[in-house]
Amino acid sequence: MRIAAIRGDGIGPEVIEQAVRVLRTTAEIHSIDCRVDEYPYGADHYLSTGVTMPAEHFEQWPKEYTAVLFGAVGDRRVPDNAHAKDIILGMRTRMNLFANCRPVELVHADLCPLKGVKESDIQFTVFRENTEDCYIHSGGVMRMGTADEVAIENAVHTRVGVERIVRAAFEYAAARGCSSVVMSDKSNVMQNAGDLWQRVFREVAAEYPALSPRHLLIDALHAEVLRDPAQFEVIVTSNMFGDILTDMCAQLQGGMGMAASVSYGAHTTGFTGLYEPVHGSAPDIAGRCIANPLGAILCVALMLERHGHTRAASSVFSAVRQSVTDGVRTRDLGGESSTHEVGSAVIDAITTITRTEGGG
Ligand code: NAD
Ligand code: IPM
Ligand code: MN
Repeated sequence: MRIAAIRGDGIGPEVIEQAVRVLRTTAEIHSIDCRVDEYPYGADHYLSTGVTMPAEHFEQWPKEYTAVLFGAVGDRRVPDNAHAKDIILGMRTRMNLFANCRPVELVHADLCPLKGVKESDIQFTVFRENTEDCYIHSGGVMRMGTADEVAIENAVHTRVGVERIVRAAFEYAAARGCSSVVMSDKSNVMQNAGDLWQRVFREVAAEYPALSPRHLLIDALHAEVLRDPAQFEVIVTSNMFGDILTDMCAQLQGGMGMAASVSYGAHTTGFTGLYEPVHGSAPDIAGRCIANPLGAILCVALMLERHGHTRAASSVFSAVRQSVTDGVRTRDLGGESSTHEVGSAVIDAITTITRTEGGG
């Protein structure tokens, strides 16, 4: 494994430090050859050098590395968020990481705010399109500052873009033996995009007869996810809807600090994607060692799994569950442990779990 790590801003460095510790320990225990190269990109670097992220990385990294591990970016000293857009949206679009896969898994029942929910009730994955929609910066402002001001933000959906994300969702569902894929849009209002999504969804679904296709409008989907999350296995949706949906889903997992994601494309170089927790730089809690590192640590589990290290991946996942069960929790989960203490508890649990299973 060859990993490029970017800590970023706010709590990004705090959570990535723990994720990298967990990765190194797991790799050692399971005899996995793993190198992590750290890169300094983020607000400090941008403000002191004027460079957000050198453009050559977008082309080189998918050839040189097998993964990128990323914390979060966003800093009040950069009010237009220029560096953040360049780095995070830059990687997603310029590395062509069109599929943003966000697993929604509950590691411990008492973390979920819904009543009477068991771990197995919250076990689904959201596939979010990652390069189009209103994330393409198309639009403009007219008559700025006047009473007639107009702001336009265009959303673009292409045949290629929709088809590849829908297919990624079906492939994932088929590989896991799921029974259904839900597509969600707002086709009752956004008819142009909705019609494209509907046609492509029907066409791709026809290639996967073992999977039942189902459609829900995005507002109804949010309501259904809260009412009965157990009915979902795989959900596919567009970029902005997926962004909003997955913050809500993070709350079902215990909060923003519990959700992991990977963005990937169609690379044939061994590059498995960009791994990032779903949360942002959380300036309200940054620098206090209270950020929950489990979302970033679950990214490590996802990374190990996608590199084919199934046992190592499941040891990280089990260790996360163990640390939560043992009550080693940051404040957002109702505990008093620090970011570092949670990292250490996960590392101890990985060691114990692997020893109990009989070696690395
Ligand atoms: P946020 O996810 O940073 O924070 C939302 C709330 O969740 C805050 O109250 C925060 O304290 C809490 N929270 C988030 N992560 C947590 C963790 N690991 N442990 C404990 N609590 C946690 O979202 P926001 O406040 O809307 O955005 C802050 C900045 O982050 C903005 O600049 C935004 O653009 C940026 N952002 C970046 C990314 C990314 O880089 N991938 C993702 C989302 C937001
Ligand atoms: C996310 C974030 C980003 C997004 C922002 C920071 C551009 O909210 O990864 O969920 O909207 O995709
Ligand atoms: Mn988001």
